Amino acid sequence: MYPTWEVPALTAGGVIGLIAAFHILPSHLSVSAMWFNVFLENRAYRQNRPELIEYIKKYTRTLLIFSYVLGSLTGVGIWFSATVASPRGISGLIHTYVWAWATEWVFFVIEVIGIFVYYYTFGKVDRRTHLRIGIVFAVASWVTMIIIVGILAFMLTPGKFNETGSFFDGFFNPTYFPQLFTRTGFMFAISATFAMAVASRLKDEETREEITRLAAKWGIAGLLVGSVMLVPWAATLPAATAYKAGLAGLVPGTVLYGSVAVAVLMLVYFVWALRTPGAITTATAVLAIFILFTGILGGERIREMLRKPYVIAGYMYSNQVIAHGVASRGVEPEVEAMSRDGFLKHVALVPPALQPISDGNRVAVGRFLAEQQCSACHALGDTGLRPLARMVRRLRLADVERTDGYLTGLGHYDFMPSFVGNDAERHALAAYLVELGKGATALAAKH
Ligand code: HEC
Repeated sequence: MYPTWEVPALTAGGVIGLIAAFHILPSHLSVSAMWFNVFLENRAYRQNRPELIEYIKKYTRTLLIFSYVLGSLTGVGIWFSATVASPRGISGLIHTYVWAWATEWVFFVIEVIGIFVYYYTFGKVDRRTHLRIGIVFAVASWVTMIIIVGILAFMLTPGKFNETGSFFDGFFNPTYFPQLFTRTGFMFAISATFAMAVASRLKDEETREEITRLAAKWGIAGLLVGSVMLVPWAATLPAATAYKAGLAGLVPGTVLYGSVAVAVLMLVYFVWALRTPGAITTATAVLAIFILFTGILGGERIREMLRKPYVIAGYMYSNQVIAHGVASRGVEPEVEAMSRDGFLKHVALVPPALQPISDGNRVAVGRFLAEQQCSACHALGDTGLRPLARMVRRLRLADVERTDGYLTGLGHYDFMPSFVGNDAERHALAAYLVELGKGATALAAKH
């Protein structure tokens, strides 16, 4: 185990979550926008409409700036934050999927070069060639999604991977295709929302309304395909574990119904734009982007929630303890050994003052254990994400013995890993939790 990255209130996972949810906007936009561009460009040539080309240039410029500045920055941000927050999780993924990422980056490079070439060769190469550049870009960027979704879906439903250790068993896992087509559908809704925002800046009313109407149609189609594909996606989630419990009760109602409400609202917006395209102002269009973003935040939160207690389902817990081994890859489970030897024996860089456990350092050791084993999902305080102090008070865990007993049964929750460690360590964590429940936040600062 490595040292942990503790982020007050937000938690380290929360940092990744925020960056990753924002990343969806530029990344999904970039993957889908060029399909719309190519469609419009083709139409512009056939009907000889230079004003459409002017629009495509504007939309491409937005894409270039928004997707390639913010998209690339947040993409790198996910890597940085995930590596610090969950080095073992990243390592687990890299050991199987390094070539998938390498392949994705090749296509990403084509995308990055493609957008510049496409933007700067308008009118400089013949029309057919220019269209082809657009198509190469559109296909290459969708391929990046085809690859990344394999890894994302693997983390939720590894399928036969845990038995066979095979790259493709993990990649083409049960939720792969439904998730790919859900994202593919929704990405068109995202690019349609942006396309309408750019169109709202056009001076010529007729062109503006025509593009708004076309984009609205793409948006409706994308939203419908994405929503319909959620049905097979939900159906392929394994029944036994936290997944179904998650859908039933764990995901806060505001998040679940909020996401559904956003989808409905977006549908209404697209239909409205289709019928009265003149009514879409820049302010409305920007508001629509914000609303869309809250829906994305909710949707991704649900997906993350369903994966608990794992970071990689059936393999590694969110707190990076290896829950079940992958024999075919020589990965040993750790829970038993860590409980036998003591968890701290398996942590690199334990502060010397925390060993051995004594009356003097017990609470501090408990805090260290909470950082290691709980802070991936809980803020260690009164505020923020699933604040542990409040949870402890809610359960009235006010004395150490009772709390110790509670910790013994922690793994009974579908969504939480068991406490891992020996009796003295569990006792130390219990002592810390009791102090935490008393509101002893001053503890946060000192070890
Ligand atoms: C994989 C993520 C995860 C980890 C790791 C985790 N928890 Fe939790 N825990 C949750 C979730 C999710 C909930 C439910 C939150 C809610 O009710 O909003 C929860 C709830 C709780 C509750 C309240 C339970 C109840 O019945 O109301 C306590 C107490 C708790 N956790 C303690 C811990 C302790 C102590 C650790 C570390 C040893 C820990 N958790 C590690 C995810 C986790």
